[in-house]
Amino acid sequence: MKRLADKVALITGAGRGIGAAIAFAFAREGAAVVLAELDIETARQTAEQIKAQTGGRALAVQTDVTQSASVQHAVSEAEHAFGALDVLVNNAGINVFCDPLTMTDDDWRRCFAVDLDGVWNGCRAVLPGMVERGAGSIVNIASTHAFKIIPGCFPYPVAKHGVIGLTRALGIEYAPRNVRVNAIAPGYIETQLTHNWWNEQADPAAAKQATLDLQPMKRIGRPEEVAMTAVFLASDEAPFINATCITVDGGRSALYHD
Ligand SMILES: NC(=O)c1ccc[n+]([C@@H]2O[C@H](COP(=O)([O-])OP(=O)(O)OC[C@H]3O[C@@H](n4cnc5c(N)ncnc54)[C@H](O)[C@@H]3O)[C@@H](O)[C@H]2O)c1
Repeated sequence: MKRLADKVALITGAGRGIGAAIAFAFAREGAAVVLAELDIETARQTAEQIKAQTGGRALAVQTDVTQSASVQHAVSEAEHAFGALDVLVNNAGINVFCDPLTMTDDDWRRCFAVDLDGVWNGCRAVLPGMVERGAGSIVNIASTHAFKIIPGCFPYPVAKHGVIGLTRALGIEYAPRNVRVNAIAPGYIETQLTHNWWNEQADPAAAKQATLDLQPMKRIGRPEEVAMTAVFLASDEAPFINATCITVDGGRSALYHD
């Protein structure tokens, strides 16, 4: 029996990176997946690959998580195509890394619009149905920035702290209705986002090596390693796990210093 058989899942930002890996993993475990993505071309390509490689059902829907009506539209499309949603993964996110005092108001708003409002827009769109049906699992992709600070990365960690707060608050609010809300805090994961950050540094190769040297396992994570945890939280194997956060960082956040 596949672990997500007969479930319907919507994953935001699933055109590439961690979101795409989650959509693949969910489809392999039997879920019908909806890829709610700003960049519709990547979402369509990923949906086609999922169908071809897993034989599962996948649908791409252009979605801007900063707009509640857009997220609501994606949920309606998902329900029309596959039926009621069992799982939501709020994965879409952007890096906004600034110095606090030189950051613009626009940087602050751009960060919060995607990284925190986007998560709330997703939750608000699916919660009424999940509460009515008395079942559902929401997985929010936070970050180790949700409890650790790297100077010069403001205000991303502020928004990610908020994601943990939102996860805990909604997890408690809807626990009596059997709707679980959890988060995953990935450490460094090799995606385009990470490559972009290295490429912005003066010496990208040295920046990459410095990142690897920081890791207890001397490597960074793969998107599939986050996806495995998302499958677990979304599945019926985690019925009593709620309002919490699972860290997937190879132990990095437990390390004081070498
Ligand atoms: N890569 C890492 O090291 C890392 C570490 C910790 C947390 N995270 C978090 O994991 C999540 C995914 O990161 P990733 O590394 O896969 O990034 P990525 O940039 O590779 O993928 C993010 C996807 O989100 C989409 N997106 C951006 N804005 C959107 C919007 N407004 N509406 C809908 N989709 C939108 C992008 O088009 C892209 O396809 C993010 O929330 C990120 O903060 C990543």
